[in-house]
Amino acid sequence: MENQQAKKIRWGIIGPGRIAVKFAQDLAKVSNCELYGVASRNPEDAIGFARKYNAKVAFNTFEELAKSNEIDAVYIATPHSFHKEHSVLCLQNKKAVLCEKPFAMNAIEVQEMIDAAKENNMLLMEGMWTRFLPHFKYAFDLINTKKYVNIHKLEVDFGFFTPYDLENRVFTKNVGGGSLLDIGVYNIFTALISLGIPNTIEANADFFENGADATCNMVFKYDTLDAFLTCTLTADTATEAIFTCENAIVKINGRFNEPSSVTEIIDGKVETTQFPIDNFGFYFEIEHFNELFRKGKKESDVLPLNLSLDLIETLDKVRNLIGLEY
Ligand SMILES: NC(=O)c1ccc[n+]([C@@H]2O[C@H](COP(=O)([O-])OP(=O)(O)OC[C@H]3O[C@@H](n4cnc5c(N)ncnc54)[C@H](OP(=O)(O)O)[C@@H]3O)[C@@H](O)[C@H]2O)c1
Repeated sequence: MENQQAKKIRWGIIGPGRIAVKFAQDLAKVSNCELYGVASRNPEDAIGFARKYNAKVAFNTFEELAKSNEIDAVYIATPHSFHKEHSVLCLQNKKAVLCEKPFAMNAIEVQEMIDAAKENNMLLMEGMWTRFLPHFKYAFDLINTKKYVNIHKLEVDFGFFTPYDLENRVFTKNVGGGSLLDIGVYNIFTALISLGIPNTIEANADFFENGADATCNMVFKYDTLDAFLTCTLTADTATEAIFTCENAIVKINGRFNEPSSVTEIIDGKVETTQFPIDNFGFYFEIEHFNELFRKGKKESDVLPLNLSLDLIETLDKVRNLIGLEY
């Protein structure tokens, strides 16, 4: 049997779009792995991407990539509505899968992905890269180690303005476009890993003319506190996560989901910690995934599949409350 510890992990990418460009550049910085192949709907795009980011092979189809014996792990970076199909294709062909957020369109699809991973005994993880970023880990260490006790309030906003354009995936409803699945997923993730599943949820939304959600406001109600979560595609907002605790305020500065900094405010004293890095931030989830792969793990202990299921089930609940159907 091949020595997994020493093995150079050969990655494939399905969906060579905007985010795959950053992922490929970070992958090149992680030791003992390589970008082996890429597949697109359009073989010409795959050839161009492979040339630019030094992949050995541009596959003609997703199936060819999934069936290749030269590939160990696949990063799925297609629009949300294809995540399940592409993940299951790879899992059934015995590939480890790192699939972008949101993991899929709904909990039924995520459960199918998990079932496929279990049936094929393959590693599967959601590409919730934020969980692995140094500033985010630092903030959660502060919260989870109880340095700052009793969270009284959590406020998370995520907003950016981009002109309404039906050519842009972000607004395209039938591929899961809209604020909730694209960016609100980070707000909900932050609430779940700090406070758990809420007792009840209140939510309202505004919609674009095509029915995709433009803005979604949520209140997650817990026993002793509320979490206020907002996401919007109509305005640039601070995009911060602010924990008001009994003895401090911990602020994950904007954009909180990307490499950033953390500010702690204690008795009016403000201290900001920077986390300089020389990559886009995908480096850290890739390192983690590679380590899981080498150890023969089938899921992450940091980002377990039941957390991804909790996340998509919560997204489903919010969609139900705001009447958003795909
Ligand atoms: N982690 C992050 O920070 C982050 C940031 C942005 C996006 N994302 C996630 O990454 C995913 C992709 O986002 P993106 O902004 O990179 O999207 P994108 O550039 O619009 O699309 C990604 C690629 O998907 C392929 N694609 C588009 N429509 C398709 C279809 N109908 N069938 C099969 N493939 C199709 C396209 O490749 P071809 O045309 O070459 O086939 C495209 O290049 C989304 O799920 C998003 O949530 C994550």
